[in-house]
Amino acid sequence: MSQAPALVWPQPAAEFLWAEARTFLRTFHAETGRPGLRVRLRQVQKEIALNGTYRLSCEELIHGAQLAWRNSARCVGRAYWPALRVRDLRHVSAPDEVFAELRTHLHLAWNGGQIKPLISVFGPGVRIINDQLIRYAAYPDGSGGWQGDLQNADLTARLRRSGWEPPAQPGPFDVLPLAIEAAGNVHLYPLGLQEIQEVHFQHPAYPAFAALNLKWHALPVISDLRLEVGGLHFDCAPFSGWYLQTEIAARNLADAQRYDQLPRVAQALGLDTRRERSLWRDRALLELNVAVLHSFDAAGVKLADHHSVSRHFVRFEQKEARANRAVQGRWSWLIAPLSPATSPIWHRQYSEDAQVRPAFLKVPVLDHPSSAATCPVH
Ligand code: ARG
Repeated sequence: MSQAPALVWPQPAAEFLWAEARTFLRTFHAETGRPGLRVRLRQVQKEIALNGTYRLSCEELIHGAQLAWRNSARCVGRAYWPALRVRDLRHVSAPDEVFAELRTHLHLAWNGGQIKPLISVFGPGVRIINDQLIRYAAYPDGSGGWQGDLQNADLTARLRRSGWEPPAQPGPFDVLPLAIEAAGNVHLYPLGLQEIQEVHFQHPAYPAFAALNLKWHALPVISDLRLEVGGLHFDCAPFSGWYLQTEIAARNLADAQRYDQLPRVAQALGLDTRRERSLWRDRALLELNVAVLHSFDAAGVKLADHHSVSRHFVRFEQKEARANRAVQGRWSWLIAPLSPATSPIWHRQYSEDAQVRPAFLKVPVLDHPSSAATCPVH
């Protein structure tokens, strides 16, 4: 545990809050067909006038979280938004309890490999510093290079400053502990093996592939975004779905600034890496994607592929159009990083100019309790 300055959680001004609440409650009642909008509006208006804030009902929170997913401009898997399960944990804010509930989240979301989309919404005054619950450490290797996931270099350094000790024999896939911040203190919690479900990669046609010792964890749980519903902020609201194979095989393991594995894969496949025109990079990339799909399937773990997900996304767009709703999108995130022009999304246009709420948002740096600090978190 280490000292950080006291929490400051700025609440939006009452007037703004009331405007946001009104908009959301209208949407909630219109979309769910629930009666009683007028009564509910009066009630919330009174509550805000009296307390400067208000409380969402459990049903409102559930629908709000689902809408935040539906509105995520960068997510190509949004077709499943109505399937998001919501755990209402607004009564939980103590770090030990938050950690216990995060373990339960990992267990429930994993669901024996039949991964279920899930969000856990915690109470105020607590947040998770890790950007995902499961992250691999990055270490300088002493000769100017790195071992592990370079994307997590800052997180690793921060956790080490907070007191985390890497294993005696650091490896490329060391799972970082969770750092939970509350009341100015940072608490570290190591995850146990039973919480970290991983898939080891093999290729159906190249036995040499398995010797590369590549693997990835099965559950992406985004844990540093704020859920905003009806003007209320939930800064600790980790959510998870299942992976899309390109995230792992075309980015995490392939990016030169991440695991940079294409040269090793090419070597295992016996490709001619001396000439760019042999297209060894493209072939290695493709086979790495084949291996990831094959291995998840063989392990019985749910994973999407980029062709199916693109088709589902187009169907989602059509459904939204029928419901008279605009779909916001960020093209560069929606197209797959593998064979992008084979997807219908390549040929479509998207815009992201409206500030649609409910939403998942980056918490502004100034809102971070520890950033109001003059002293660093140690
Ligand atoms: N791209 C991120 C990763 O590779 C995960 C983002 C969320 N993805 C998802 N399928 N829900 O870890």
